[in-house]
Amino acid sequence: MAKILLTGGAGYIGSHTYLALIDAGFEVVIFDNFSNAKPDVPARLQDIAGDRVHVVEGDVLNRTDLDAAFAAHQIDGVVHFAAKKAVGESVEKPLDYMHTNVGGLLNVLAAMEAGGCRRIVFSSSATVYGDTDVQPIPEDHPRTYTSPYAFTKIAGEQILEQLTDDWAVGILRYFNPVGAHRSAMIGEDPEDIPNNLVPYIAKVATGDLAKLSVFGDDYDTPDGTGVRDYIHVEDLANGHVLSLKRLIDTGESHTVNLGTGEGSSVLDVVRAYGAACGDDIAYAIAPRRDGDVAVLTARPDKAKAELGFEATRTLADMCRSSWAWVSGQRRNDK
Ligand code: UD1
Repeated sequence: MAKILLTGGAGYIGSHTYLALIDAGFEVVIFDNFSNAKPDVPARLQDIAGDRVHVVEGDVLNRTDLDAAFAAHQIDGVVHFAAKKAVGESVEKPLDYMHTNVGGLLNVLAAMEAGGCRRIVFSSSATVYGDTDVQPIPEDHPRTYTSPYAFTKIAGEQILEQLTDDWAVGILRYFNPVGAHRSAMIGEDPEDIPNNLVPYIAKVATGDLAKLSVFGDDYDTPDGTGVRDYIHVEDLANGHVLSLKRLIDTGESHTVNLGTGEGSSVLDVVRAYGAACGDDIAYAIAPRRDGDVAVLTARPDKAKAELGFEATRTLADMCRSSWAWVSGQRRNDK
């Protein structure tokens, strides 16, 4: 069975993809510097999956670390998650973002070439579409950046598009990944006050934060609040399995959206989370957040046609799994 290296494999999406790949029968090696992942993630993955977890502790900015991973393992494919992802921080530290996200990708590609591996799945984002009225968004919509973070994702895609045709590349544009694994043993675990909606609501539900600020209720949407395409992280993880299978089986590169095609408003999420945790989520309407768009939803048909990908989990599933994870962690902390 093919052996896959996951850079950033201990992170939120990486750890869920680890489990989906193990379920599908792949061998998996995690490469992570644990800068944005808890050190106990590999032990948790081992508890869930049962088998020993292979981890190489290393940094994508350090070519020697990457070479060591390729020397220790015969790698057939790479999923490159390791990157920085906070839009606001990228505006403060643009060079940091270019260095890690673009420089890191270049290092990974060079190490892959030296190691004789030319199959890569790249974590891209719906952020590459910028602010557009075209909804749901098809993959051939022009790319444009509204932040240094978005710039690094477009640059990453463009670098991959320049590779020679003996490379097989899967570019996956994530919409809004939320939720947690069904085991409730891994999930999203932000250190600071969360920027993103669902982790923030989760902290209101646990009582760690008093109330959610809803950023704007005067958008041109059914209830005036922002609409997004939330996708369960386990569905998203399956998208990586399908992408890798396609690269391995056919060698055909692809660029696809990973979303559900369904839009939910901020207030839809507030209600769904309230139902999941059995308590109302306190909120107040606040001004719009800089850089936010009214609506962002995926056209999901290309991923279905090319990968056979279809998201099956509902917003209620996403909120229930998030709550099971967050409330379980809280019990453990006590
Ligand atoms: C953000 C990033 C995006 C990144 C994604 C996943 C921006 C502008 N975009 O997407 O590039 O890929 O996270 O990490 O940061 N909201 C509130 N109150 C809150 C938080 C959010 O009302 O406290 C609203 C937002 O206005 C938006 C929706 O909830 O309408 C979703 O926000 P969020 O979870 O931050 O995701 P995005 O902004 O869509």
